[in-house]
Amino acid sequence: MDNKKVGLSDTMTAKTKPKTFRRNPIIGTKFTIAISSAKGGVGKSTFATNLALALKKLDLKVGLLDADIYGPSLPKLFSIQEKPESDGQKLKPIMKYGIQCMSIGFLTDEQTPMIWRGPMVISAIKTFTQKVLWENLDFLIVDMPPGTGDTQLTFAQEINMDGVIIISTPQEIALQDVKRGIKMFDKLKVKIIGLVDNMSHFIGEDEKRYAIFGEGGVEKTAKEFDKNFLGEIPINPEIGKQGDLGTPIVESKPDHKISKIYLEFAKKLHQIFI
Ligand SMILES: Nc1ncnc2c1ncn2[C@@H]1O[C@H](COP(=O)(O)OP(=O)(O)OP(=O)(O)O)[C@@H](O)[C@H]1O
Ligand SMILES: [Mg+2]
Repeated sequence: MDNKKVGLSDTMTAKTKPKTFRRNPIIGTKFTIAISSAKGGVGKSTFATNLALALKKLDLKVGLLDADIYGPSLPKLFSIQEKPESDGQKLKPIMKYGIQCMSIGFLTDEQTPMIWRGPMVISAIKTFTQKVLWENLDFLIVDMPPGTGDTQLTFAQEINMDGVIIISTPQEIALQDVKRGIKMFDKLKVKIIGLVDNMSHFIGEDEKRYAIFGEGGVEKTAKEFDKNFLGEIPINPEIGKQGDLGTPIVESKPDHKISKIYLEFAKKLHQIFI
């Protein structure tokens, strides 16, 4: 990697041969938006799936690419058991809830761990972006794995990404990783659309607001890095329950107050890009 070219001279990076990258557009989509956060378990996959469904409700054509090779979530979150077909050259996405879906989890069995080194992960990401028949999409939503590793780097340098939405919980332990994520995307010149505060608070039966993981940390971080703050999603057990059932809340309970919040995020994205 050419450290000077990507501006990573003050960052720890692996020593590799200097290389110039050519950005490859993903055929079949207008806009590619990644859902990321260097921190694990903050709700990226939950956000990605529900955002995709909310965009679909706006009559947009949407694809969902699960880019988490080591820990794919889409088969579970969308309850997909089928294997994708191939036309001999390209894989056909699996259509579920009106969304074109692809995940490494469709090609392996649920309990098989992916014991792969980085180059194989990079090759899988290239297959999913270049060798999938994405058809006429307005948005391809990419669910990123945690971390600041090969997948993020491949997307940033070798694929035409239009922006990234960063998800965080308000805890300091999450935010410290998230700040690393923001700096990485800034240095790689990927547009950060904004930050989302997930699990921002809990509304009890007494209608009071409880800041379980602290309050305001994500918005403060957005200000600190001069990024947009896109809004918050409270903790709501229904989100996890519907995710586990493979029927995300926006699909199964479109009138739920949480589904309306996802719809607002979708409208914001629609406004920014279309
Ligand atoms: N707002 C929320 N309220 C309640 N539960 C939530 C909320 N958002 C996410 N969850 C739950 O938190 C857990 C982690 O969510 P998810 O798998 O989407 O995180 P992730 O960031 O994709 O994780 P990973 O880094 O492992 O990919 C899941 O059990 C999910 O149902
Ligand atoms: Mg995930």
